[in-house]
Amino acid sequence: MGKKITDRVTWVGKTDWELRTFHGDELSTFRGSSYNSYLVRDGKTALIDTVWLPYDREFVKKLKEEIDLAEIDYVIANHGEVDHSGALPALMREIPGTPIYCTANAVKSIKGQYHEDWNFVTVKTGDKLDLGSCTLTFIEAPMLHWPDTMFTYMSGENILFSNDGFGQHFASESLFNDTVDPHEVEAEAMKYYANILTPFSQMAEKKIREIVAMNLPISMICPSHGIIWKDKPMQIVDKYLQWANAYKENRISIVYDTMWNATRKMAEAIADGIRAADPAVTVKLFNSAKTDKSDIITEIFRSKAVIMGSPTVNNGYLYSIAGILDLIRGMKFKNKKAAAFGSYGWSGEAVRLMGEELSKAGFELVDEGFRTTWVPDGDVTAKLRQYGFELAPKL
Ligand code: FEO
Repeated sequence: MGKKITDRVTWVGKTDWELRTFHGDELSTFRGSSYNSYLVRDGKTALIDTVWLPYDREFVKKLKEEIDLAEIDYVIANHGEVDHSGALPALMREIPGTPIYCTANAVKSIKGQYHEDWNFVTVKTGDKLDLGSCTLTFIEAPMLHWPDTMFTYMSGENILFSNDGFGQHFASESLFNDTVDPHEVEAEAMKYYANILTPFSQMAEKKIREIVAMNLPISMICPSHGIIWKDKPMQIVDKYLQWANAYKENRISIVYDTMWNATRKMAEAIADGIRAADPAVTVKLFNSAKTDKSDIITEIFRSKAVIMGSPTVNNGYLYSIAGILDLIRGMKFKNKKAAAFGSYGWSGEAVRLMGEELSKAGFELVDEGFRTTWVPDGDVTAKLRQYGFELAPKL
């Protein structure tokens, strides 16, 4: 059975306690997730979004326990990605002529995935759908998280159905933010933003400011993943405005890989020097071969600087560092600084190459980095501490 949100709105989604990766293996989801679908019953009935494909039959079966499917007048597809549209084929087999309201881009993505010519009704920002005592207003929200995404605002209940926007990969038996650990939810909301929405921050900020300027009364924000923002719903909007604006905290991430621990020793000595120079800064070390990549991206998102380390191998840097560099290039981080370091035996190009890649990724490289041969001895370790000490004020 569904879970009641208000007298007119019922949650009919799927809580996925098992999910540990998302987008294939791109994103870790250690706290599971949910695919939120909402049934809006007024004079007319609308279903907002469905669930991920593996749960399509379960979704339709449970929906039938909640409502005679023939009573659904409209399907709203806020976003075509399979985690929200995956149950559409199973649903539309039951109610084939029911109109599906979505953006023109969503028609493309849904047709491209399911190859069905359903009864699509294309909508734009400001278009409305009258349900009786309340009205749904559609707001295109491209890149939150695909070009096809839209939000749906329900008057009367004053609910913003924001799809991926303001969501979190967080499984919970209770639906609302005031019934779960707020620190866990904020951590997951930030991880979601950092890993999925950072590249689109400029558009996200513009869209959010546009919605705020509409002065819509908002009593709840119902995303398509995780909990519903019911207590002080605008808190997550405020967070998004901060996160979208070249976000950084007084933190430094040292991200390194190491073959025989020489580069690890360098990382620790540099961290010592930074701490000595600036006790207020939070410095964290991450071995990129041993740390979840999504967590590293979240830590870099929070940091004012990244210091990257790798030994030189085959005239380059290690594989795990290559992966992190590839990820951060796509993130288009703004207003962050960087440096590089590493141990080498023979040729020693890794430090220069990491610096070049960090520059290409938009980081401001503050110096030429620190490289040393073999394993740092006491003198080199002291120089590394001094390097960290002098680096701290530049970051
Ligand atoms: Fe939750 Fe972009 O899909």
